[in-house]
Amino acid sequence: MPKVLIIYDSVSGNTKKMAEEVEKGVKEVEGVEVTLKHVDEAKPEDLLNYDGIIVGSPAYCGTLTWKLKKFFDESVSIAWGKVKGKIGAAFSSSGGLGGGNEATLYSILTILMNYGYLVFGLPDYSAPGVTAHYGAVSVGYPKEAEQKACRLLGKQMAEYVKMISCGKEK
Ligand SMILES: Cc1cc2nc3c(=O)[nH]c(=O)nc-3n(C[C@H](O)[C@H](O)[C@H](O)COP(=O)(O)O)c2cc1C
Repeated sequence: MPKVLIIYDSVSGNTKKMAEEVEKGVKEVEGVEVTLKHVDEAKPEDLLNYDGIIVGSPAYCGTLTWKLKKFFDESVSIAWGKVKGKIGAAFSSSGGLGGGNEATLYSILTILMNYGYLVFGLPDYSAPGVTAHYGAVSVGYPKEAEQKACRLLGKQMAEYVKMISCGKEK
């Protein structure tokens, strides 16, 4: 069964709530397994064991948190170059509009691309009414619209990993 891992960092709970909504979205698709981990619980080997990864971070000075950066830096010797063709996506929570959500998404997506992940966002032609072009974002605690974007991100990931795993069986 295809498997999705959600790794997030969160201190005051905003990104955690987003992560839980992303998890719900993955669960909307039958036949896909999902695991949710705070970055403190994640291990480099995890990257090898999942078909898709969704990474969530608060905007810290407009970039991902040091814990997430450390996790990916320390995972290089285990997973870099070995996750080619797996799927990646991102979500981010900031304190203010213009506080760097998109910059934070790019910082995550850049790392995922560097590792070899195929990354995606949610252009609004595929998700009408939801603005999550480069990944799901929220200013402060995610309200219903932002929660919906998180669920859509998770659901889209589940659909992609399912498609890819079907291709592998052929
Ligand atoms: C060290 C630090 C740096 C931050 N930098 C930014 C920033 O650059 N832009 C911004 O909008 N908010 C910034 N914030 C606010 C957080 O991104 C925001 O409160 C976020 O929703 C916290 O997520 P969490 O509840 O998951 O911890 C910063 C907060 C901290 C503690």
